[in-house]
Amino acid sequence: MTVTMRGDGEPVTIGGDALVVTAFKGELGALAETIDVSLGDELAAMLASGEISGRFGEVTVVVAAAAIAARRVVMVGLGDRAVLDAYRLYNAYTFVGRELRKRRLTRAVLAADLSLLGRAAPDQPALLRAMVTGTLLANFEAGALKKDAEDRSPLIEELVVAGLDRDGEDSIDAALSEAVLLADSTLRVQRWTSAPANTMTPTTLAGAVRELCADGPLAVEVMGREELEALGAGALLGIAQGSDEPPAMIVVRYDGGGDGDRRLALVGKGITFDTGGISIKPSLGMEMMKSDMGGGAAVLAALHAIAALKVPCNVLGIVPATENMPGGRALKPGDVVTAIDGTTIEVVNTDAEGRVVLADGLGLARRLGATHIVDVATLTGAAIVALGHVNTGLMSNDPELTRLVLRAGEQAGDRFAELPMSPEYDVCLHSDVADVVNWGGREAGTIAGGIFIREFAGDLPWVHLDIAGTSWNDQGNLKDVPDGPSGSPVRTLVWLARLFAAG
Ligand code: BES
Ligand code: ZN
Ligand code: MN
Repeated sequence: MTVTMRGDGEPVTIGGDALVVTAFKGELGALAETIDVSLGDELAAMLASGEISGRFGEVTVVVAAAAIAARRVVMVGLGDRAVLDAYRLYNAYTFVGRELRKRRLTRAVLAADLSLLGRAAPDQPALLRAMVTGTLLANFEAGALKKDAEDRSPLIEELVVAGLDRDGEDSIDAALSEAVLLADSTLRVQRWTSAPANTMTPTTLAGAVRELCADGPLAVEVMGREELEALGAGALLGIAQGSDEPPAMIVVRYDGGGDGDRRLALVGKGITFDTGGISIKPSLGMEMMKSDMGGGAAVLAALHAIAALKVPCNVLGIVPATENMPGGRALKPGDVVTAIDGTTIEVVNTDAEGRVVLADGLGLARRLGATHIVDVATLTGAAIVALGHVNTGLMSNDPELTRLVLRAGEQAGDRFAELPMSPEYDVCLHSDVADVVNWGGREAGTIAGGIFIREFAGDLPWVHLDIAGTSWNDQGNLKDVPDGPSGSPVRTLVWLARLFAAG
């Protein structure tokens, strides 16, 4: 796969399978308008007749004219200009990439529409990143385990970005390699998240991380049952009791900053399969629970990218990983476990296991000297009810860290919506027998999860990201969001480290 940049010459002079240009609702983008002259005003006629509309995600493919070096012109609708933001721009280019692959147009020229500079992309590097990363995300292979590789569409092999002015923007070249790196990281999270649970166990996840970080500056440590016992990680061990698969606490350490510097801990939920345990889930749709380690995958892939980018700050990645199974030794509702920080947890619902293992994840982060904590988890089905697959639920005890995450999301093309932490919600933690209970009722389910996790952040600035909806779009009629695993929010975590290093 190669991605290059051509600042010189007109996009129409660059050869390839496809020249990709933009449209908006009822209007052609700047370059589309220019090249439409050589197309005999065909694109304008298609818009005028209503054959196409320029609606968001609409991809139109026409045969190119002699004056255009590429074989096809591909035009993507970006919809209403007023609501276009980074998230929509990334998604639009993923739709482009999917159409290119379907048609076996694997070498494409992406023409930058500079009229997008503003809300959708603050500067040229940001525009380039959205186009390149967005397109490359189409290279995710949902059917990778099918035996007939010939049935599969070929991968996008070559992208040329045209129409940006390279002069005076050294950062353009850097943005190009970043865009490829962050696409690779996102694809990695998508692959890990969608891997069947019989091939993605805590042990194989830890092995994959070791391999990924083998020649980097990252220190990977994996704690098994014995070490977890010595550590007092009774919460993770408790959830792991019902499974024959050994649990793992995966710790990745990146020392890109100075010795006494602040340290950002990224803590990801790593449930490699969630049956619910004794509080067992209904069987319909349970297969989706192979993706219950999506937060952990995003954290681990983010650490790899942060190291590759040599971000000058200290980051810790922590993933408490286990299956949640109803085996003969499984936790029973009412059992009490003790987390690393000594807090006792009454587990009344073994299906609210994410917050329990995260208690130990956050406890370990504090032990290891974290000064700031961001946790990422497919925590609650209620997040899907509240926000669908569009926004990640965000909760926090610190407005400044929240602002940083929101800014990172704008750079990365991820969306977040903050949920309140009014003190009245605290009652959901009350237990008669232990310090806290892991489930206090059905109301405000997503908020209750965040309130629980906050207990384990102590007085550190902390942000909680509930990605139950956003890590995977399995809602067929949500047309503006690519379906399948998103890899989100790995790019936001990388940008967060960058902003953290800068501030
Ligand atoms: N992993 C699930 C949450 C989830 C549901 C993620 C659907 C993605 C899609 C989590 O462990 C869980 O089971 N949550 C319970 C919480 C409840 C018992 C408080 C839920 O959402 O029902
Ligand atoms: Zn779960
Ligand atoms: Mn569960």
